[in-house]
Amino acid sequence: MKFDQPAGANPIDRGTVIGKPQVRVDGPLKVSGLAPYAYEYHDPAPNAAYGVMVTAGIGKGRIDTIDTVDAERAPGVLLVLTHKNAPKMYGKADFPKPGPTDKDPKGAHAAPQLQGAEIKQFGQAVAFVVAETFEQATAAAAMARVGYSNGKGRFSLAAGKASAQPDPKGKDAHVGDFATAFATAPIKVDTTYSTPNHAQSMMEPHATLAIWSGDQLTLYTAHQVIHWSTQGTADTLGIPREKVRSISAYVGGGFGSKLEIYGDSILSAAAARQLGRPVKCAITRPQTYNHTTHRPPTIQQLRLAAGRDGRLTAVGHLTWTGDQEGERGELASDQSRLMYAGANRLIETRFTPLDLPKGGSMRAPGEAAGLLALECAMDELAVELGMDPVELRIVNDVQYDPTVGPSRPFSDRKMVECLRQGAEAFGWSRRHPTPATLRDGRWLVGYGMSAGIRNNIVMPSGTRVTLRRDGTVLVETAMTDIGTGSYTINAQTAAEMLGLPLDKVTIRLGDSLLPKAAGSGGSWGANSSTAGTYAACMMLRAAIAERAGLSGDTLFADGHVSAGGKSVALRHVAAAGPLTAEDTMSYGDLTKQFAQASFAAHFCEIGVDRVTAEIRVRRMTSAYSAGRILNPITARSQCLGGMTMGIGAALMEELVVDERFGYFANHDLAEYQVPVHADIPALEVLFVESLDDKSSPMKARGIGEVGICGVGAAVANAVYNACGVRVRDFPVQLDKLLDHMPVMA
Ligand code: MOS
Repeated sequence: MKFDQPAGANPIDRGTVIGKPQVRVDGPLKVSGLAPYAYEYHDPAPNAAYGVMVTAGIGKGRIDTIDTVDAERAPGVLLVLTHKNAPKMYGKADFPKPGPTDKDPKGAHAAPQLQGAEIKQFGQAVAFVVAETFEQATAAAAMARVGYSNGKGRFSLAAGKASAQPDPKGKDAHVGDFATAFATAPIKVDTTYSTPNHAQSMMEPHATLAIWSGDQLTLYTAHQVIHWSTQGTADTLGIPREKVRSISAYVGGGFGSKLEIYGDSILSAAAARQLGRPVKCAITRPQTYNHTTHRPPTIQQLRLAAGRDGRLTAVGHLTWTGDQEGERGELASDQSRLMYAGANRLIETRFTPLDLPKGGSMRAPGEAAGLLALECAMDELAVELGMDPVELRIVNDVQYDPTVGPSRPFSDRKMVECLRQGAEAFGWSRRHPTPATLRDGRWLVGYGMSAGIRNNIVMPSGTRVTLRRDGTVLVETAMTDIGTGSYTINAQTAAEMLGLPLDKVTIRLGDSLLPKAAGSGGSWGANSSTAGTYAACMMLRAAIAERAGLSGDTLFADGHVSAGGKSVALRHVAAAGPLTAEDTMSYGDLTKQFAQASFAAHFCEIGVDRVTAEIRVRRMTSAYSAGRILNPITARSQCLGGMTMGIGAALMEELVVDERFGYFANHDLAEYQVPVHADIPALEVLFVESLDDKSSPMKARGIGEVGICGVGAAVANAVYNACGVRVRDFPVQLDKLLDHMPVMA
């Protein structure tokens, strides 16, 4: 089925199961420990050997010597792979450049390991030790002796900023005459923020169990997009893609980190083939921080100018970012194409090569870091204007893509509704605009707010649905559930479409043998995968109606299909034998014709200790617009997670770079600080619900990433309102406040 016209009324609109608060259908398996994660499979490979990576201890340079004699002789050791004996592997550069229409380019997800003495990043695998037990492999890995020549790496974005070049991956925009508009405006801010490297820090580390059967490889692995795992692994190993099956039935979070493949899958697969025996590997928690991807750092200059009425006349957002050569960096300026009105715009990204671990996607790549800066700069502009920051955002709302013009309207932009309803629920009117005015004992109390946007992406996604002989339905798709609720919303979709209660629907996900699906990334998963299930169900409805001898408009409700005054129980239709339908939803150009994005408004109350400058979030309210809310329970959980992660970005998260060796020094959850329960008060989530008929027949948009978009700026703006100190170098921490705290009686 192709979605290339706005959706009309359709069976999803009945809303008897979709849109209802439904607890997770996979919940009982998870809380009883019966949902297996990649590393926990035992039965498929009771004789699996254990692999442990040895990772590089320098950020750039070469391996001069590698001595694995002791490791090889250690008890239980079966194999030690290094660059000297590893099989040949292939990277992106080994494949022809993809054409513009190639959706699955060869090598795009390749991740070769142990292919030479060159060290490109700290944490790169330099050896892989396989033994009978995990303990033996770990002990032997510690016996590997590696001698390096330490090269001169580029590890500091600030140092590389001066020589940074325009980033072809950024969506730069030059509209109108920014320079003149900025120079002549009566009110303006020119302010620079920085955001550090961030780590996804998902609960389940990357892990893989690799099993060969002849030339067929099966991976039980932790991945967000199943076909990227199979393609990446096959391309790297130089085997046909159809020879790899990947299973990610349950995934313990990803936040972008599991969009890629790493040493766990590639080295387990290579070692298992060599040993003729299954091999499993979990990347250790400390290794995840330097071996896998992270969010790259930014420095962002915001130049905003407005008339005295607050209307923006010039929007300038210049981001400097850095990553390994040829990679992307953090495209923090991009959302400023869409966020606010303003006739003159200068949106730019500059890139400098860094020799830090390779960057990648982390929850709302681009927006999450970009809005930290843009939304604090808007707060600064509100101060300059003497205007309420909510009103400043409302007067600059725009119902079309402000970079293109009115020819590209938003499909459904409810930012003002989010701002007004969020402000009302939070009690924004009680805010005092003068910093350090509100007191609660030793706490200075501040209110801050921000707005958020996240571009809506759709992806082709397929599903197979089967009406089984007993009248129940089986839903199968290679979609993943990374803790987000994919199982539940896809089961709800099928139940709604076929007029069955949810307990008559069984669902299987996360196996590459199932129909190719959108996967979980870029907030496209919920809308796109359920749209695929919708397409398959439309086909199954037609098959059911035909067998039931019904024609014309059919209604599927209460376990029956009806048309033209006749009604047949699905049980009776099924009794003649199962019926199966499989389809993929694909898309026309509605995301080009219409700007599509989800929106948010955040309101935060902060306490800053007037003596110690300790910062505590006291409460927070966020309002979100993401079209139809498919399931308010799972959607709310996504938002709570985004708010929590946004508070972390504001106040805690920072990968600390050791610039001598180019590594992230705080590489575990003790030192890389993320919020814990005690840091997070009651959070309130509101949905401004609507139907987006341009997004898909589900009329829903992405919600996973808009959850975090803008959150941290509301926190930082609340800190400013509490104590009058504006910190422009994230995270906002007490040592950056202490010297500037107001003197108080
Ligand atoms: Mo996302 S950062 O595309 O998982």
